[in-house]
Amino acid sequence: MSTPRPAAVLVLAAGEGTRMRSTTPKVLHHIGGVPLVGHAIRAARGTGAQHVGVVVRHDRDRVAELCTTLDDRLVIADQDEVKGTARAVECGLGALPADLSGTVLVTYGDVPLLTGDTLVELTAAHLETGSAVSVVTAHLADPTGYGRVVRDANGRVEQIVEHKDATEAQRTITEINSGIYAFDVSVLREALASVGTDNAQGERYLTDVVALARAAGRPVRAHVLDDLWQTEGVNDRVQLAALGRELNRRICEGHMRAGVTIVDPATTWIDVDVTIGQDSTVLPGTQLLGGTTIGADAVIGPEVTLRDTEVGDGAEVTRAVANLAVIGAGATVGPYSFLRPGTRLGARGKIGGFVETKNADIGEAAKVPHLTYAGDVTIGEGANIGAGTIFANYDGVAKHHSTVGRHSFVGSSTVVVSPVDVADGAYVAAGSALTQDVEPGQIAVARGRQRNIDGWVERSRAGTAAATAAREARARHTDGPEPATSEGNAS
Ligand code: UD1
Ligand code: CA
Repeated sequence: MSTPRPAAVLVLAAGEGTRMRSTTPKVLHHIGGVPLVGHAIRAARGTGAQHVGVVVRHDRDRVAELCTTLDDRLVIADQDEVKGTARAVECGLGALPADLSGTVLVTYGDVPLLTGDTLVELTAAHLETGSAVSVVTAHLADPTGYGRVVRDANGRVEQIVEHKDATEAQRTITEINSGIYAFDVSVLREALASVGTDNAQGERYLTDVVALARAAGRPVRAHVLDDLWQTEGVNDRVQLAALGRELNRRICEGHMRAGVTIVDPATTWIDVDVTIGQDSTVLPGTQLLGGTTIGADAVIGPEVTLRDTEVGDGAEVTRAVANLAVIGAGATVGPYSFLRPGTRLGARGKIGGFVETKNADIGEAAKVPHLTYAGDVTIGEGANIGAGTIFANYDGVAKHHSTVGRHSFVGSSTVVVSPVDVADGAYVAAGSALTQDVEPGQIAVARGRQRNIDGWVERSRAGTAAATAAREARARHTDGPEPATSEGNAS
């Protein structure tokens, strides 16, 4: 066996989080595309623990439902009306097997930057040192509000005193309790039984377990973390933004170290699960969200927002928004394009400027270059859709689908009134309002024939500048010299 695993991890998430001033429970607020409690669950899973439990109470159903959606093997433990972190852990243990032995880790649902690796290191150090309690601590310039780590003359951890219960002298201590621990479960159970409520808040404090274990002669140690961000919790939206930015910085750094160029990490936002291939470049103002995946050698940005979108190798996406779309290898998208769910652009295909697509399967090397709405359509390989084409997919009641075949050509400013089938190798004349299918090799001309009426402007718009211009032009045309050649003063 390689690294030893904890038997269980308990994530405390029963608190109310009033400072968020939100109707959404605190732990359901997101950073990096994942709810706060989701980050805690991922870190817990990163230890390989057999059991991961989340202790809930405030807005119980919403938190529990979201947690089980994220991870269906989770144990949901309900905290009762007794308050305090010790009670939360007791309720958590109550939901785990009664014969559980070994190490139990405790973390918080609102501390999102803590990593699974840190918990693995904590577990390893806890076991190597034969400790009964390991408390994760950090040295803070401003420790206000935190529980302080009180050490004895030999530097060993003696107790943790909450800020509200601390003496003036204890408040000068800058080593704080992060609230993350590793416990030997039998020592934890025994100590919890003796935790009372004799403190400023009248709550049952988990921190009391430290002094109780010490008093029972059990080895207690501090696991000091230098990376302070990993111990930071979210209490309000200012901290939510600060931790979100730091998480993003770390994510961007990870991609850069793996061979992705990110020109401006400060304006680039990448969710935790996004993958980006080697030698791709991300330009400023870009958001890569959800389960987005980018291939190698792609160029994304500036100002691109991709959600749950797949981008192939070597594709280029500029100033575009895409949601649940697939962009093939070597394809180009943008600027100013909107790819809605179900858009699939084939390899080397093009979706150009001011184009909106939805449920659009666009074949290899097919082009939809300008000013088009392509909804509910299949466009064959190598087809060209002229500027300003509209696939009118909605008749006011239902949506309909159209097809444009391989290497077909739709002239500019055409309205395809779906459902219509344009076969392979067919043409549609510009300005058509297409309502019938077009067979292979045909050209469809679906518009009124042009009619020119002589003298109309001078008759119906007499006295206007247009009428004068028409008269002058005709005079030049009939008896005057040809304007382009006769003036002769252009270089
Ligand atoms: C706690 C610690 C403190 C530490 C700080 C670090 C105690 C008594 N104090 O204080 O030493 O410095 O965390 O952030 O443990 N929770 C429950 N059930 C409860 C109470 C809390 O699940 O009954 C959960 C909360 O949802 C939260 C976490 O435990 O995720 C911490 O609770 P909070 O009230 O914020 O504790 P602090 O007073 O900050
Ligand atoms: Ca807190």
